[in-house]
Amino acid sequence: MMERGLMNRMEKQNLGARNFLYPMPTTLVGANVKGKPNYLTIAFCGVVQAIPPMIAVTLGKMHYTNEGIKENRCFSVNIPSRHMVEVTDYCGIVSGKKADKSQIFETFYGTLENAPMIMECPVNLECKLVDTLDFGGTNEVFIGEVVESYAEECYLCNGVPDIEKIEPIVFSMYDNNYWGIGSHLGKAWSVGKNFSGNGDAVKKYE
Ligand SMILES: Cc1cc2nc3c(=O)[nH]c(=O)nc-3n(C[C@H](O)[C@H](O)[C@H](O)COP(=O)(O)O)c2cc1C
Repeated sequence: MMERGLMNRMEKQNLGARNFLYPMPTTLVGANVKGKPNYLTIAFCGVVQAIPPMIAVTLGKMHYTNEGIKENRCFSVNIPSRHMVEVTDYCGIVSGKKADKSQIFETFYGTLENAPMIMECPVNLECKLVDTLDFGGTNEVFIGEVVESYAEECYLCNGVPDIEKIEPIVFSMYDNNYWGIGSHLGKAWSVGKNFSGNGDAVKKYE
């Protein structure tokens, strides 16, 4: 059989029913709990819909932040930069039930007035809670409509956030590691036009 990969392929191993999704984002979700901002770190976060823009954040049911999301029916998703890796990890270790996390960041508010956002984070998404999903497991999924987004000029390129300027933190779950972003590989909806379909599915990019 023709060798189509870059390295000699071994047989695929079964790794079990686990969420091996690579990469994962590292975000800080904010909500006011008992009148004070609280932030927790989450990697279970993803886009649900483009128009109107909706995002899902999946939180363990026991977390402190959940109370605030339910009470105020709004929350924020903040994208920390690599320069915030320590404080981001701290927010993922320490619960608002045990420690006051309201003073860690400079908080600002937007149009919803009750979704605390982190000034130090390059990008902020202000979300109105539109639905809560419970699949009977350990987590609950909050679906938010993004009503506004925020970034300083220094993080933009042609009016949209630039991933190289943001320097987001990438997360790998089962080995518990944080990473920076890698190099640019090509333009989306463009490089695919070069694909011949003749056994060149895997190419080596520097
Ligand atoms: C890298 C990292 C990723 C995490 N991802 C999630 C997540 O996706 N969902 C979740 O519920 N908790 C996640 N956690 C755990 C919470 O952030 C943590 O339990 C936090 O202390 C809860 O804060 P709170 O009780 O103040 O809401 C993560 C923690 C770390 C360090």
